[in-house]
Formats: sequence, structure tokens, C-alpha cells
Amino acid sequence: MRKDMYINGKWRQARSYTELRSPYSGEIIAEIPVADEQEVEEAIEAAYQCRKKMEHLTAFERSEILSNLVTLLTKRKEEGARIIASEAAKPIKYARDEMNRTIETYQFAAEEAKRLSGEMVPLEAAAGGRGKIGYTLREPVGVIGAITPFNFPMNLVAHKVGPAIACGNAVVLKPASQTPLSAYFLAELFEEAGLPAGGINVVTGSGRIVGDKIVTSDKVDMITFTGSPEVGKSIQKKAGLKKITLELGSNAGVIIDKHTDIKAAAARCVFGAFYNQGQVCISLQRVYAHKDIYEELLKAVAAETEKLVIGDPQEEDTDISALISLTEAERSLSWIEEAAAMGAEIVSGGKTANAVLEPTVLTKVEETARVSCQEAFAPLVVINPVASVEAGIEAINASSYGLQAGIYTTDIQTAFQAVRSLEVGGVIINDIPTFRVDNMPYGGVKDSGVGKEGIKYSMQEMTEEKLVVWNVK
Ligand code: SIN
Repeated sequence: MRKDMYINGKWRQARSYTELRSPYSGEIIAEIPVADEQEVEEAIEAAYQCRKKMEHLTAFERSEILSNLVTLLTKRKEEGARIIASEAAKPIKYARDEMNRTIETYQFAAEEAKRLSGEMVPLEAAAGGRGKIGYTLREPVGVIGAITPFNFPMNLVAHKVGPAIACGNAVVLKPASQTPLSAYFLAELFEEAGLPAGGINVVTGSGRIVGDKIVTSDKVDMITFTGSPEVGKSIQKKAGLKKITLELGSNAGVIIDKHTDIKAAAARCVFGAFYNQGQVCISLQRVYAHKDIYEELLKAVAAETEKLVIGDPQEEDTDISALISLTEAERSLSWIEEAAAMGAEIVSGGKTANAVLEPTVLTKVEETARVSCQEAFAPLVVINPVASVEAGIEAINASSYGLQAGIYTTDIQTAFQAVRSLEVGGVIINDIPTFRVDNMPYGGVKDSGVGKEGIKYSMQEMTEEKLVVWNVK
């Protein structure tokens, strides 16, 4: 199957193509365009020419296009799930969850399109404001460059394209090289949903050519990116005065206090650490267990981990499949070996077969080992004992990242203290940090990024607030 680029409402042949392979089987699943600078330029120009048309759509019309998309996605949900499973090696049951979330994300966008508004500004509250009436309008920024990752190829595209369209922007989308099929699938459905030609343009190719062109173009007004801190920081340097939202990674942690229901917490830890092979920005990577319950928790997590089924992402009972590439499996394994050489114990897993890394539980890990202090983005979890909740908070805060953190405790004061002290974008009480529904504000501090996603919050980022003052004296 050969895919073409989607520019200005048309499927456009590229000058060059590359093979896309399944991360699990290595089989060729499609041929994908590799855009050159001129082709990216065309996509940007199409969005630029369409921006006024997008701005002039009414809220009702924007909402209707997004609602049409919801209907189409609902009809073709299983097809979408199969695409995700094939290009990202996401186990089919989780690919279906992602389709359900994608539909809900666009549903939120359709609803929020109708709610977008500015606010009254009480100018007369100021000494110099007599006789003035003020209010603000929320106007679309114009053209949004969206650069999306492989780990949620439908829903993280939805988190950028949905709000962008809900507030009347045109979009140039560069999906991750390994997962372009989900993005092309969405482009096809947007066309059917009635989005004006040029409202969304999808180009695939290298970050150096496609990504750089989008980030540095004068015709692009805002960049929204999800990916690694390294790439995020380089985008920030190149983007000049453009608005920017960066959703970067983390090595998310949870603190488990004494008196916790160990069985329930262990089951959630296993889900949070290994779901989508740990390739989630809020994947549970570090568990700080109170010394009184540490042994019991470690045993319970190891026992739950042993039950996971490793296999083909298209099989119904598969829990764990391949990482996105062989290189990533080898890199993660080398981090596990490094931790073991520093004295860590491998309680479960710790081996690879092709691009599959067994779900791995480590303990007695040095905080300076990369499995602890860097983002693993792999199915591995570190469980270390701590003398107190305060020590757990300190360990979580020692990270250069700060996306979300969790704490299990039965003590309300301890929970309040954790909320106050944890240096993260979101604190989850009595659950793991791997919690996200699609209308909540989502975004980190420190190296985890800048700006917030979650439809309503993205729409604030994707609009300019224009002040209007009436002199009524
Ligand atoms: C991410 O990896 O940042 C997205 C997590 C999610 O949407 O569940």
C-alpha cells in the first residue's frame, strides 16, 4: 500500500518514498512519502492560504465539522485500531482504547468550539478607567505546525488538530516517521467531514527537513510538539517568536505509603509501568515504597508482571509487544545492564527478543542509574524502599522532569503535603501518575515542557486574546 501526502485537500505524489515496517514482525506495511523542502513549503503555503477561510468559519460550522469527524471515526473505529496496532505495535486492546479516546477528544473539541470566548474586563475598576467598557476576543493564531509522536498516533494528533480546528486555525501536521498511517487516515476522514481544503495538510519525512521547515517558516504562527526534551529544546531555539507548546517526557514516580491496599496498588503499578510497552510520557518508572510495605509490594508487582502475555499486537490477549524499534529495545536493555552493574537486582524480565523487551522490574537501583534518572520509554519499573513519604517526595523532585506524580496514602495531611511539595504539572492521589483523560489540563514543569494540553487548555494556547475598549463618555 502506497500513501501520498495530503496537501490542500488533495492526495499528492511525492518525489521520494520509503518503506514502513511493522516494529513487531519487520514486515513492510506501506510505502510512505519522504517530503523534500519544496513539498513541505507547498503544505505550509496551503495552510497559510486557508487560514482566513478557517478563521471565518463560525463556531457552529467548526463544531459541525468536528462532530462529523466523530461520526466517521466511530464508524471506522476498528479499522483505526488495526492501523495503530500495525504501525506502532500497540496491543490491539489498547489500540481500541486509543480509538475510543480519540473519538472523545474530537467530541470535546466539537463542544469547546462552541464555548470559546473572551471575557469582560472591568476597566472602571482602575483609577483611569472612567467611561470605558472593555472585553476580549479569542482569535485563532493562524497556522499551526503540529509535530506528533509515535506512542499515541491517533490521540496525540487529535490533541493538536482537534483544538486547532475548534478555534479556527489551519494546520500543517508532521506525524512521527514510524506512525504516519494514523495521520493519513485522519486526513481522509477530515476531508469527508467537510473541512475546507488546506485546513489540514499532512507531510511525512525527516525531522531535519520537514520538522525544521515547519518550525522556521514565517508562515507558521505556532508550534505544538510532543516528543523528547532534546528535540523540544532544539525546536524552542529555532522557533523564534512563535507561540510554542512542548509536551516532553518524564520518569514519573509514585509514593506508596504504609497502610495502602497493596494488591490494588500493585495491579495499578503493573498497568502504569507496562501499558503500551512503557512508551507513555507518564509511564510509571519509579516507585518509592514505604519500608514497612516495600517487600510485600515488590512481591505483588513481580507476581502480576509474570502474568503479562507477550506477543503479536494484533492478538486479542497480548499485553506487551514490540518497542517502536530494535534500537530502542537494545538501548533499554543496555540501561538495565548498567543498573545491574551498579548493584541493582532484576526481579523480573530483563531480556529482549528482537524489538520486544520483557516487562522488567528492578529494585535497589542507584538514583544515578539511567533507568531511574532519565526517561526510559520502555517496559521497566524501579521499586525502591524509602524511610518516609518526605523521602519519596524528595526523590521524585530530584528529577529534571516534572509531568505527573502519584501518591497512595490513607492520611489526608500527607496527601495535602504531597500536593504542596511535588514539583510536577499534576498530582494524582491514591493512584499512579499514568492517569489521563482528555479534557484535563496536561503538561509539565522543568524538562517536561511548557504550556498545557487538554482541549480547552490547548485552545487558550492556540488563540490570541484581543482587547477591545469602547470609550462611552
Ligand atoms: C503521552 O505520552 O504524553 C500521552 C499520554 C496519554 O495521553 O495517555
